Parts: sequence; C-alpha cells; structure tokens
Amino acid sequence: MEQTIYYLEGDGVGPEIWRAARPVLDAAVDKAYSGERRLVWREILAGEKAWKETGQLLPEESLLALRGAAYAIKGPLGTPVGAGFRSLNVTLRRTLDLYACIRPVRYFPGISSPLRHPERVDMVIFRENTEDVYMGIEFQSRSAEARRLIAFLRDELGVELAEAAGIGIKPMTEAASRRLVRRAIRYALATGRPSVTLMHKGNIMKFTEGAFRAWGYAVAREEFPHLCLTEGEAQAGKVLVQDSIADALFQSVLLYPERFSVIAAPNLNGDYLSDALAAQVGGLGMAPGVNMSDSLAFYEATHGTAPDIAGKDSANPCSLLLSGSMMLENMGWTEAARRIEAAVETVIAQGRVTADLAAQMEGATPVGCARFGDLLGEALP
Ligand code: NAI
Repeated sequence: MEQTIYYLEGDGVGPEIWRAARPVLDAAVDKAYSGERRLVWREILAGEKAWKETGQLLPEESLLALRGAAYAIKGPLGTPVGAGFRSLNVTLRRTLDLYACIRPVRYFPGISSPLRHPERVDMVIFRENTEDVYMGIEFQSRSAEARRLIAFLRDELGVELAEAAGIGIKPMTEAASRRLVRRAIRYALATGRPSVTLMHKGNIMKFTEGAFRAWGYAVAREEFPHLCLTEGEAQAGKVLVQDSIADALFQSVLLYPERFSVIAAPNLNGDYLSDALAAQVGGLGMAPGVNMSDSLAFYEATHGTAPDIAGKDSANPCSLLLSGSMMLENMGWTEAARRIEAAVETVIAQGRVTADLAAQMEGATPVGCARFGDLLGEALP
C-alpha cells in the first residue's frame, strides 16, 4: 500500500530537520509493515526556495497540488521582508480553508518541566483558525478610517469612544464555531477521549466568545445527542462537553491537567494556550501540529525558521517528526506512529538530545540535528 505525501521543505532550519526526520518516518513505516506500506514523497515549493526557483513565494502549481491532496507536511516558512505578503502561513490557511489547528500536548519523561506532575498532561487543542481578531480588521489610532468608525459608533449606535483609539474588530460566526467544535467532538469520540472543554471569555465578550460557548453546546446536544453529555460526570463511551472561562482554564490546566483532554478554543485563546501548554512539557521544539480543512490535513513543524541556529546542525527535528507521526496515526498507520513515539522516548531517556532539550535536562549530552536523527532511527523498535 502506498500513500502520497506532499511535503514542503521550508526555510531556515527546514532542510536540516527534514534530513533528520524523513528517514525516521520511512524506517518506522518499513519496520511496522515489513515493507508492505510505503510513503511516496512529492515536493512542493513555497517560501524562499520557491522565490529563488520560480520568482514566486507561493506558486500556483503548489496550490493546485495542495488543493488535490489529502496529506501534506511542511517545515517552517519565512517570509522575505518586503515581498508584499503579510504571512505565507496565514495565506495558506486562508486559501486552503484550513479551519482547525490541532496541537496535541504530551510529556516525554526526562525533560524538566515547571509542573509537579507533567506526566498528567495529555491534551489536544483544537483552535479555530479562520476568524476572531486574527482576521486583521484593524484601524490605526487617529487614522481616517478609525475616526470614521468612531464617529459611526457614536452617531449611529450611541457608543462613546476616545477619539484617539486604535480599533480592532472581532468577528466570530456560528458556522465557523460549530464546524470547529464538531471536529473536536468527532475526534474525542474516535479516539476514546473523555471530554471536550469549550474555552471562552464569554463573561466579558458575550456575543463572540459567549456565543462560541452556546454554539458549541448546541452542536453537542443537536448533532451528538446520544454520544455527548453536557453535564454531570464523565461516562464510558460518551464525551463530556464542558466549558471553562479562559483565565480560569489557564490556572486549571496547570493545577489539574488530568481534568482536561480535548480543548476547543476560538483563535486567540487557542493560540495562547497552545504555546503555554507546549512550554510546560518541553517547548516548541517538541510540539507537533496540523491545520485541517474538510479535505486536507496539512501537518507542520510548529516552530519558526530559527534563523539564529539555521545551518548549524543544532535544530531539534522532533516537532516535524512528531507531526509526521500524528499524520501516520490519522492515516490509520498507528503501528508506525507508535514506534516513532517509542523511539523519541528512548533517545530522550538516554539523554542524547539536541541543545534545546539538553538545556532542560540534567546530565544530558548535546548532539547535533543529524546525529539526533540517526539515534532516533536506531532506537526505532
Ligand atoms: P522561531 O520559532 O524560529 O525561533 C524562536 C526560538 O526558538 C529561537 O531561539 C530558535 O532558535 C528556537 N527554535 C525554533 N525552532 C527550533 C528547533 N527546531 N530546535 C531548536 N530550537 C528552535 O521564531 P521566530 O524567531 O520568531 O521566527 C523566525 C521566522 O520564522 C520568522 O520569519 C517567522 O515569521 C517564521 N515563523 C514561521 C512559522 C511557521 O512556518 N509555522 C511559525 C513561527 C515563525
């Protein structure tokens, strides 16, 4: 059996983390299925490499390939300054309607953590990716647009604002909130996770974040009436849908991580929570992620191009590798995914890790990116 995977090398540390991670992905599949399954890699261009080769940052050909793809995976993308793009990642998310950003957060024993019981952290964050304040609808303080908006609010809606206010707009729709929560509930049901927590700041922002909460519960009640509980204790075979106000949730995930499993969040909350939780268990160098539309799962290294260490053979390839492992799991190639996670656990336990991890571990020996990749390959069960 073969599965085509479109891959995008990425900029900065992208090529080196790929050189370390891809052989481990191939070897894990090979070992798990004795050569009967195979990943077929097809490169697509975007970012600086595309700019150099085609004069475009995001060639139409790459978009065409991605539109027809089921699985793709990318290294980090830098945006050359002055090329007229706000962010390539944002452009990709918008163009391909990658509406759910999914980040699992789990602990690998051996890495030092500020938590007393980091082993209790096992959460998956579903972050809405297309709207909220990230739509970029903003008007600078004292600009003509801000002044017009302030006058409109005052004259038409009776809202008094400081003349010199900068303004940002936070649109959130029922359709986008529902499809995100629906996806989170389906995931919890498919993977046997006990709960979905709706994260919101609805006590203050009633018609955006408060509405997200209400729409989320409506999805549970209307679309999964026999599979979800919206109150009481968790029950085997059912998903408990609960909610938490964002600030309280930031406390609770640190104090009682075992109470949370899947978390569904609007864009801004989800952004903050993803990085905060990643830091609790080893930082962004370890955090995998995927952005999903209804047809494409686009996995990614969640960190940036790390220009300070690019080309120095010291980047940690785990974010990319674990994203690849998530992809294998989603494809149903769970045995290969399990072997990759086991290899990461083994090599970390041996304390031979890249500098970012060594700095967080007692008695660890730092190794380069390429060597770390070799060690991971050797540790595959
Ligand atoms: P960054 O994530 O590249 O770096 C932040 C810090 O983390 C640096 O000290 C870096 O050395 C370290 N780091 C990152 N990845 C690492 C790895 N694999 N192993 C070890 N250490 C690692 O964030 P920064 O510096 O803010 O952004 C640099 C560029 O990356 C910018 O052009 C930005 O737009 C882009 N970027 C791209 C992202 C993506 O493609 N998903 C995400 C974030 C930033």
